[in-house]
Amino acid sequence: MRTPLIAANFKMNKTVTEAINYFNEFKKLTADVKDVEIVVATPNILLYPLVNIVKGTNINLSAENVHWADNGAFTGETSAVTLKNMGVNYTVLGHSERRQMFCETNETVNKRLHNALKNGVKVIFCIGETLSEREENKTIQKVTSQITEGLKDITIEMMKDIAIAYEPIWAIGTGVTASSQQAQEVHAEIRKILNSLFNEEVAQSTRVLYGGSVKPANVKELMAQDDIDGALVGGASLKPESFIQIVKFK
Ligand code: 13P
Repeated sequence: MRTPLIAANFKMNKTVTEAINYFNEFKKLTADVKDVEIVVATPNILLYPLVNIVKGTNINLSAENVHWADNGAFTGETSAVTLKNMGVNYTVLGHSERRQMFCETNETVNKRLHNALKNGVKVIFCIGETLSEREENKTIQKVTSQITEGLKDITIEMMKDIAIAYEPIWAIGTGVTASSQQAQEVHAEIRKILNSLFNEEVAQSTRVLYGGSVKPANVKELMAQDDIDGALVGGASLKPESFIQIVKFK
């Protein structure tokens, strides 16, 4: 019932030339992919030259962040209006790297989320706990507050354009993946939180992705879990031949 969503997050990697070469290669590899939605988030500055390359393919481009205002005196920020005008229909928001290194809070992520949706840009909304929070048994408490505050004033209707990415911070870029059971446990809790904030239909229809050291060798087992609907992939998305194996997990 939920279409799998496999998303790449390039983070701050690749030049324009490297990105163009990647997409020219990757689009050939995705031509026969069916029943999986493919999203690739690249640094915002790379998106414009890529729009024409992915036109007519099954690859959706995504930004890695957007601002909460349509335009104005916000030096260095990216507008969802501009993204939409360019033909980019997705953005990642609330990534732990933004939260930890660039002072993003649940409140600023919520404001950005509202503006993205208002402008027709769908959102991959990231949440996740630190290692010490996990060790102190505070994982559910952490994701509950991130979801509750991050989705403030979001309606049932708006939830159709939001996917949640659960990315335990201790598993990002470390090579340590949460076990499929650990991920499944949190994903099931996330659906309970969605049920209490919205209703059972939203809880069952929202896609919940896992992120944190996903690679070709572990994607199948993760995707076999009942409540894992996709992946948000950093390092293993940077080479087309690696990322395509994750897209073709079946
Ligand atoms: P890695 O796949 O490199 O662990 O990164 C995960 C991530 O942060 C995706 O957003």
